Amino acid sequence: MNDCDCISLLQWVLPRLHMQWRGFRKVRGQVCKRIQRRMGELAITDVALYRDHLQQHADEWLLLRDLCRITISRFWRDKRAYVSLDSNVLPVLAQQAIQRGDGTLRIWSAGCGSGEEPYSVTLLWELKLRDRFPSLKLNVLATDIDHAVLARAKTACYGHGSLKDLPTDWYVIAFQQIDDAYCLRQRFKRGVTFRHHDVRDQPPDLQFDLILCRNLVFTYFDESQQRAVVGHLLNALVPDGALMLGSHEHLSADERRLKVWPGLPCFFTHRNAPALNLR
Ligand SMILES: C[S@@+](CC[C@H](N)C(=O)[O-])C[C@H]1O[C@@H](n2cnc3c(N)ncnc32)[C@H](O)[C@@H]1O
Repeated sequence: MNDCDCISLLQWVLPRLHMQWRGFRKVRGQVCKRIQRRMGELAITDVALYRDHLQQHADEWLLLRDLCRITISRFWRDKRAYVSLDSNVLPVLAQQAIQRGDGTLRIWSAGCGSGEEPYSVTLLWELKLRDRFPSLKLNVLATDIDHAVLARAKTACYGHGSLKDLPTDWYVIAFQQIDDAYCLRQRFKRGVTFRHHDVRDQPPDLQFDLILCRNLVFTYFDESQQRAVVGHLLNALVPDGALMLGSHEHLSADERRLKVWPGLPCFFTHRNAPALNLR
């Protein structure tokens, strides 16, 4: 299967899976290779024949949906987002939690990959913020649909490439090298719970101060699915909680109950307030 064949297959397949081609354009290589391998297992050499196979076998769609999952991540992905979590967003949320009389700051990393995102947050908390808010405990729920990435997240060992965006002294402090891998020290794993969860389902039965939903729903899902998921996410936030998206992601303009954090894809749910500046 050449690249053109793969593009035309994806452009046919993705809308039927409620996903959007736009999100896959740059990362299609990973998906094309998997589909090519799958066609090999079925001894199918031609994209048109694979389409016929899909039309005749409903189960193949479930498998194909799994093949279209992008699992790329890294620590401190989109540095600007973490800088602003450090200087603005988390301190604001921490103050609000204290004012509510809450002893825990709750964060949900939805589509957490192999743990790079939730652990980046615990690193930030432990190394920069915890001493400013000694009465607060950080609790991060990290969920993903993919059992393999969750297993990797729990081992918390990574290649050097996954850490390259972290401040240098942090990876010296937080990781120990074991052979070729860098393994997160125990103290930074505390407070993170991993759970299998499909973000399209009802949210976990908890209220969160912050939800990170980055580089998943608003990149790969189509608009109807985005709308359904955003409803779930907002219902899982405390009043005045925050939802942070990936740096190139946007909410649709109908989310009028949200205030945007200037310059960031971060939204606060001031439920009774009019929107200020929705992107
Ligand atoms: C591109 S990674 C993003 C990881 C991290 N949020 C980041 O920004 O670096 C997308 C993750 O979402 C997961 N995912 C895909 N579909 C999902 C779904 N329906 N529910 C929950 N997680 C899903 C994938 O397994 C993958 O780990």
